[in-house]
Amino acid sequence: ERGGYEHFMLKEIHEQPQAVRDTLSGRINRSGDGVLLDGVHLDPEWVRGLRSVYLVACGTAYHAGLIGGRLIERLAGIPVWNEVASEFRSRDPLIDERTLFVAISQSGETADTLSALREARRRGARILAVTNVVGSSVAREADDVVYTWAGPEIAVASTKAYTTQVVALALLALRLAEITGHTGEQERRDLLEALRFLSEALEQALELEEDVRAIGERTRTWRDAFFIGRGLDYFSALEGQLKLKEISYIHAEAYPAGELKHGTLALIEPGTPVIALMTQPDQREKMISNIEEVRARGADVLLIARQDLAGVDRHAQTTLMLPAVHPLLMPVVAAVPLQLLAYYAAVTRGADVDKPRNLAKSVTVE
Ligand code: F6R
Repeated sequence: ERGGYEHFMLKEIHEQPQAVRDTLSGRINRSGDGVLLDGVHLDPEWVRGLRSVYLVACGTAYHAGLIGGRLIERLAGIPVWNEVASEFRSRDPLIDERTLFVAISQSGETADTLSALREARRRGARILAVTNVVGSSVAREADDVVYTWAGPEIAVASTKAYTTQVVALALLALRLAEITGHTGEQERRDLLEALRFLSEALEQALELEEDVRAIGERTRTWRDAFFIGRGLDYFSALEGQLKLKEISYIHAEAYPAGELKHGTLALIEPGTPVIALMTQPDQREKMISNIEEVRARGADVLLIARQDLAGVDRHAQTTLMLPAVHPLLMPVVAAVPLQLLAYYAAVTRGADVDKPRNLAKSVTVE
């Protein structure tokens, strides 16, 4: 049932090109300039009058929401709030009929996400679900649904659900952008074109597996790790550190790369592993100086960079090069080495990859 793979997690990591293909299937129109979302019925007038979009979820799905939120803000020009579901109600959120509330949940049964959804409903928001399970509670309680077609995800650590959530949210962002007109047709076309090549890029990213396995073996001596990035790369850093902690039990923290020097830089000592993400061309120079900052303190830097950011590899001890896709889609590609790193760290350290301690696949208590 694991299809020749040693763990479900590894199988599911490898299923991502297909999962992304399935999630895109039938959702880009023939002329390549529009998005078709069957289960979504947004009134254009209402969309143009939207006050905000809230994206609410837990854990990995929350990280997908951070990326999706940035895409919605950037492409559709609507103000976005992201919130962890368990915190949502504690803020007395400014939500009303002019709010689109997006709940993101692989299982569609996460209690925190469901209660946030119900609270948003009470306040009059329209509810859109991004979920992987047809007929799940979140899907049933929503007005609109965008399914991720990732197929069953069995490993506790989420992988293909995450990448397909980002893809689903990119489609939603493009759909909203068509309506608001905030982004011109050519830019939307470019992104749709890039989405078509995403599966291929994921196949290429999976070819990094042997290199990542070797790095995984080095994690035997790791005690703490730092993940840094700017912009969308910070969100990838958050997901990378969660994955590593969750299954390998190595303590890790993610920081916006520019924020380390405001406090935590003191924790970087000779040999401290720092995983630096650099997939955004416009962040290149600033990222290089942040890497130099940690190098100056002796950090052991693993750089995960888009391959066309020429010359960046000389700034790190180890570099993994990612295939170049549209900058807004780089988080999908960057997820692959981060997942593999967590996986091989867990294997190296003898942890139970598919069933990490103290975790359930679907958390149905608040
Ligand atoms: C991490 C992980 C969890 C889930 C979170 C939400 O690998 O799997 O953080 O992402 O519990 O679960 P869903 O998406 O089912 O609501």
